[in-house]
Amino acid sequence: MVVGRLGFAGLLVVVLLGQQTAQTANILAVFSYSLGSSYVLVRPYIQQLVARGHRVTMISAPVSYMPDIEGVQHIRVAKLKELTEDLELFDFEAAIPTKWYEASFVADYFYNCSKLILEDPGVRSLLHNASAQFSMVVLGVAHTDALYGFAKHYNASLVGLAPFGGAWNIDFLAGNSAPSVYEPMSAMGFTAGLSLFEKWMNLIFISEERLVERFIYLPRQLELYKRHFAADSGSFHEMRRKFSLILLNQHFSLGRVRSNVPNLLEVGGMHLAQQPDPLSAELQGFLDGATDGAIYFSMASDMLEKWYPHDFHETMLTVFGQLKQRVVWSTKRRESEIKSNNVYMRRKQPQREILHHPNVKLFITQGGLLSIIEASYYAVPMLMMPVYFDQHKNAERMERLGIARSLNLHELTPEVVLEGIQEMLHNASYALNAKELALRFSDQPMKPMQTAIWWTEYVLRHKGADHMRINEQDMSLMQYYSVDLFSVLFGRIGLTALIVGFLAYTVVTIALRSAHYQFKLSVPVVS
Ligand SMILES: *[C@@H]1O[C@H](CO)[C@@H](O)[C@H](O)[C@H]1NC(C)=O
Ligand SMILES: *[C@@H]1O[C@H](CO)[C@@H](O)[C@H](O)[C@H]1NC(C)=O
Ligand SMILES: *[C@@H]1O[C@H](CO)[C@@H](O)[C@H](O)[C@H]1NC(C)=O
Ligand SMILES: *[C@@H]1O[C@H](CO)[C@@H](O)[C@H](O)[C@H]1NC(C)=O
Repeated sequence: MVVGRLGFAGLLVVVLLGQQTAQTANILAVFSYSLGSSYVLVRPYIQQLVARGHRVTMISAPVSYMPDIEGVQHIRVAKLKELTEDLELFDFEAAIPTKWYEASFVADYFYNCSKLILEDPGVRSLLHNASAQFSMVVLGVAHTDALYGFAKHYNASLVGLAPFGGAWNIDFLAGNSAPSVYEPMSAMGFTAGLSLFEKWMNLIFISEERLVERFIYLPRQLELYKRHFAADSGSFHEMRRKFSLILLNQHFSLGRVRSNVPNLLEVGGMHLAQQPDPLSAELQGFLDGATDGAIYFSMASDMLEKWYPHDFHETMLTVFGQLKQRVVWSTKRRESEIKSNNVYMRRKQPQREILHHPNVKLFITQGGLLSIIEASYYAVPMLMMPVYFDQHKNAERMERLGIARSLNLHELTPEVVLEGIQEMLHNASYALNAKELALRFSDQPMKPMQTAIWWTEYVLRHKGADHMRINEQDMSLMQYYSVDLFSVLFGRIGLTALIVGFLAYTVVTIALRSAHYQFKLSVPVVS
């Protein structure tokens, strides 16, 4: 009896341990982001993986957004940081006019990202260490395709993180044949694709981007891939179809509804799993004392400041001076510029805890994805001044949800800004909509981070979970490109044409026959 009990307990221990060892894995995380903010997503995800017992080796840039995580073996690629400086020196305004010029600059940038990682001494010694084994490679999903070679090298499953959410190129990697026509990727194509005309414009735009990817981005990544992983272009294209799972930083409740295959997962808000930075006592006091309400103003990145009109700061200061609300302003400008005592200026502000404060009634933002997710989560209406890339699209979406208004950065006068702020503060509909949105966004079966981790481990448990992918080999080209749809369309036209043709033919033959008949008839009559 006693032995039996012990045996059972022993068995239990073995089963638990067995499960434990079966479920933890060696994971290689490769993040080439030289700019900081995407690490805001990566960091808590890696922390969670470590907390779950996985052994993580991480290749990344040495940036302050990505401090060392205990238990992770960090390989820092110092040169990635210099890339950011290249980027800051680049004069966007002068160079962006043509899409092709922009594309070749961006392709250069991503080529440099991949190259610096693959040539880093730390990374090279990892690749040459025969005892290093990984069953999963996690990386930033798009543009640095040469890095997919890590997954080939270790025969590991490939998991991607998409900090800007989905786009047509990510759909391709996931095997998501759903049309992206209603959702193209970059700055210019931000229409929702509602009308037929917009859909066509988007289609043209996406086709252009496809060409850019095919002829500008990919050849350079392929070159690196071949060189560093001693492989051919066939295996490169094979790796591009190998993603087990892609985590998208978006959620349908935030106004971006799209169809996703099972290995495309929406985990927008997963960075909220990170403990937020606390308010300083001074800031806490400033916000607590805002009896008329407070406004949080952040145009996020320093780098973007050169896109603002030259009198932007003066305009904002003039407006803030006329408000009875208190303003918390995140800027690298010096405090000595403050003319009114209702403004609290610091370079870095604990954004989430500020948005969480009950006195904060409005967020003035350029509309970066992380910012709109945080504002939605904490139910703070937004006055938006989008600058570039996805921000226009984000602003449009937030406006449609009724929680924001957006202003054109280049038509800012103190009157316009003041009018915008007053409207946002006094029209109750924005705050009401924001509350409803926050409820919808939080109403999920699992928190976004739990979802991300659960599915990551699902892929580990099922050795890549190939069964989650649409098997494109089994699918004809016609089906993949939704050609069936076109054929139905053309089929209809064709069928109509056929019927019309048949009718015409019948009419003509009948006419001819009767003519012939008449002719035949008429012959004897004449004769
Ligand atoms: C990429 O690297 C090359 C060579 O180091 C450099 O000349 C170029 O400016 C870099 N381009 C970008 C966009 O970082
Ligand atoms: C090679 O990898 C093993 C296992 O990860 C590690 O213990 C060892 O220190 C590595 N060797 C070198 C030279 O980096
Ligand atoms: C690669 O991994 C898969 C699945 O984990 C396994 O079936 C296959 O045998 C491995 N291939 C090699 C060459 O180790
Ligand atoms: C409040 O804003 C909403 C949405 O922009 C608008 O439809 C409504 O007319 C506004 N109400 C007032 C009183 O201005």
